[in-house]
Amino acid sequence: MEIVLTGRGGPEMLRTDDTDAPGPGKGQVRVRVLASGVSFAEVQMLGHRYPMQPKYPFVPGYDLVGEVTAVGQDVSGVAVGDRVAALMVTGAWRTHVLVPANRLVPVPDGLDSGVAAAATMNGVTAWQMVHETARVRQGQTVLVHGASGGVGTLLVQLAVAAGARVLGTASKGKHDAVRALGAEPIDYREDVAAAVRALAPKGVDAVFDHLGGDSLAQSYALLADGGILVNYGSASTLKDDNHWAVPYVRTMGRFAGWWLGRLAGRARGRRASFYYVKPNASFNRALPEVYRLVSAGTLTPAIETRLPLEDAAEGLRMLLAGGVTGKIVLEASAH
Ligand SMILES: NC(=O)c1ccc[n+]([C@@H]2O[C@H](COP(=O)([O-])OP(=O)(O)OC[C@H]3O[C@@H](n4cnc5c(N)ncnc54)[C@H](OP(=O)(O)O)[C@@H]3O)[C@@H](O)[C@H]2O)c1
Repeated sequence: MEIVLTGRGGPEMLRTDDTDAPGPGKGQVRVRVLASGVSFAEVQMLGHRYPMQPKYPFVPGYDLVGEVTAVGQDVSGVAVGDRVAALMVTGAWRTHVLVPANRLVPVPDGLDSGVAAAATMNGVTAWQMVHETARVRQGQTVLVHGASGGVGTLLVQLAVAAGARVLGTASKGKHDAVRALGAEPIDYREDVAAAVRALAPKGVDAVFDHLGGDSLAQSYALLADGGILVNYGSASTLKDDNHWAVPYVRTMGRFAGWWLGRLAGRARGRRASFYYVKPNASFNRALPEVYRLVSAGTLTPAIETRLPLEDAAEGLRMLLAGGVTGKIVLEASAH
């Protein structure tokens, strides 16, 4: 079975098709999918607003956790029965998926497949931004936008564990949840800049911004000397009716302006960076570390709900309606 996104529109554009389990080619393995995430990327793909998405129709599904059921030629180090994870970008919303063997990361015994799926794309995204892009350190102050979201809750936990003071924007109803993670909540419907300046008068050392658009100028302005803005999404431009590339071209224009300011010595050491999770060797190195932190109880991915794969459209409906806290995980049905 696979879930096909047939065209631009709402969740009703998803169709369920029956398929056979394919045989793996050279360098591939076949994975029976146990759990896969629903992400904001699929919401953007519904509206044809995700950068360089495939042509409709295609099978969405950014990441998966599953069990190896067949191994192709020239594959070593992985065997039938192994539990593995992979970042696919698209194609994971299937009962059986062919995956290039070099994309597989082992899932530790004892780690629940749904929890592992909630920690796969979101966990590496948060881990790489905190430890490789911003290099958050003890004593720093950072601002996490959307601190109650799937990526946001992980960013908060990792930055707190690194010894940083964390300010987190969230809707008012989620402030207790943000506080419980160790962050100081700020209501994003109020004056965020004023609230941040009241709490951190010298500015913050890093801002993690998934909103993009006009939020970027405000985030950059909140940086302390030597601080870094990490932009990793364009959630605020979802409903724009221009071409999907327009917000990204505008972002590149802003970044170019800040970069020129640095060259001219006017940036006070401040930087702006765009982060984009990619299936590569660096992802394969980061994911085991994320799983280690989750297994140790240092990192807890929030799960909003678990749905059977065939209810993927319901998952997208929930994300479109808002108010979700954490990951929506699609799981293989028992039958
Ligand atoms: N670049 C990458 O590699 C990468 C990887 C993964 C995800 N992402 C991006 O990361 C973003 C978050 O993904 P997710 O799965 O964590 O989504 P999510 O769970 O839906 O979280 C999004 C959060 O944004 C909050 N929010 C909404 N409006 C806001 C505003 N005006 N100011 C501040 N926060 C606001 C929501 O808070 P309330 O619920 O309180 O309203 C929600 O907690 C998406 O844009 C996604 O595309 C990027």
